[in-house]
Amino acid sequence: MKTDNCPAWSAVRRAASALAGQRIEGFFATDPQRIQDFRIAAAGLIFDYSRARMDRAARQSLLDFALARDLTAQRDAMFAGEPVNTTEGRAANHMALRAEPPDPEVREEAKRAAAFADGLRSDGTTDLLWLGIGGSDLGPRMVVDCLAEAADGPTVHFVSNVDGAALGRVLPGLVPATTRVIVASKSFGTQETMLNARSARAWMAASLGEAETGARFAAVTSAPEAAASFGIDPARIFTTWDWVGGRFSLWSSVGIAIRVALGNPAFDALLAGAAEMDRHFRQAPLEANMPVIAALLDIWNVNALDLPSLAICPYSARMGLLVDFLQQLIMESNGKRVDHQGRILPLQGAPVIWGGPGTDSQHSVFQWLHQSPASAPVEFVLPVGAAPGASGDASHQQALIANCLAQASALMLGRDAEATRAAMSAEDADALVPHRVFPGNIPSNLILMDALEPARLGALIAFYEHRVAAQAAILGFNAFDQWGVEFGKTLANRILPLLSDDDGTVPSSAPDPATAASLAEIVKLRNS
Ligand code: F6P
Repeated sequence: MKTDNCPAWSAVRRAASALAGQRIEGFFATDPQRIQDFRIAAAGLIFDYSRARMDRAARQSLLDFALARDLTAQRDAMFAGEPVNTTEGRAANHMALRAEPPDPEVREEAKRAAAFADGLRSDGTTDLLWLGIGGSDLGPRMVVDCLAEAADGPTVHFVSNVDGAALGRVLPGLVPATTRVIVASKSFGTQETMLNARSARAWMAASLGEAETGARFAAVTSAPEAAASFGIDPARIFTTWDWVGGRFSLWSSVGIAIRVALGNPAFDALLAGAAEMDRHFRQAPLEANMPVIAALLDIWNVNALDLPSLAICPYSARMGLLVDFLQQLIMESNGKRVDHQGRILPLQGAPVIWGGPGTDSQHSVFQWLHQSPASAPVEFVLPVGAAPGASGDASHQQALIANCLAQASALMLGRDAEATRAAMSAEDADALVPHRVFPGNIPSNLILMDALEPARLGALIAFYEHRVAAQAAILGFNAFDQWGVEFGKTLANRILPLLSDDDGTVPSSAPDPATAASLAEIVKLRNS
């Protein structure tokens, strides 16, 4: 259990100590109101945390901790557009992109993006090649994947990795004359994206020539001059502002990929769902506030129960990219080590985010979840309605739901030796009993929605955005910068020239002996 000299955290630690030895299922027996009092409904979502390893006293101690850390004032400052991104002196106001009425600047840019997307959807364009990485890729890629059944526009191909195989797997399937390319990069300087952009331009120019190629390129960026220098017509350069973090940017023109694939009405519904969650986060009292309670649960699980990771398991084949998106949103935002003043944080922010869609994850990681001494809390996300056009009869969706609920129950209840023996047949060897016992008492959250459609997905994404912001506000660090990604890039730029030397010599200026040795091996392998 982590320590912090804040008196309110001492109360949380006491609440955790008081729970030692108690099991989750026992809370239901002693607290008949638990079922309705440990769930929150908002923006079409239901957040059921009745399976948390937490009782009312612990929850109250966490709410007191949030109050002591001035959460509501920090939340309101974020919505007011204050420079809450303290190390970069910027606001973090992605909510303004879905506010009604929008600021004139936002409205104008949205109209440009909508018109451009409608143009691509009606001018014979068959394919859109989307070049971006991180927040310039994961958000739109995930939304288009989740809602693919409703896609009725050009096919959007997302390429992010600098590995030539990423682009190499896509280009052969494209016809240059009916393909458009969008270079999505806030900085318009990210190595991977710029390499892919140059290669895509060369590929297209080889077929269409420079002029026609230029006419087929567009950009989404906060650096329009750099995009213009790349040769993109300013009329096709779309803006995302510096007060919109990359991992929070799918609501901006970074969402053009969504507009092209699904149409502007679907994108507007996504925005509306997010706006409804914004209103809930701003207005709901802390004890009934979905992002706040979820943030406190994360802080509790990681720092009071010493459960450092969170497995997110959407029970939906359509949500296969949700964890990829949430890994960046949560871990790049809250994987921080110092507070706003640069002091080492006593409590850990982001849990390690992992997981994957159910029911597949039952056949990969649930053995570990059920029987590893470590284990981890699980977050189930379950759209109750079947996907449009889902094949087969209702039995598919019924099986999906039954498995989701069964896993949550099994994680909580477990099965002791006596119940295990009773469940075994007479022929089963008693020696197997210890192998088939389930400790249980593993906490989980269940997020329900009626169906996976744009408004619900928008609300879900906004829920996680505000959960991240609330957690950082309570623990006192900046969720909106990402200095941790810089050092690796610097070393990559130092190593890159060492690889271009093809005379087989061992590079002398590698950053460390291990890298020098690896480079020597690589030079040998390349020349073998
Ligand atoms: O991962 C670092 C990062 O800066 C992310 O925050 C960002 O989303 C991504 O790289 C791409 O940056 P850009 O949009 O500037 O190409």
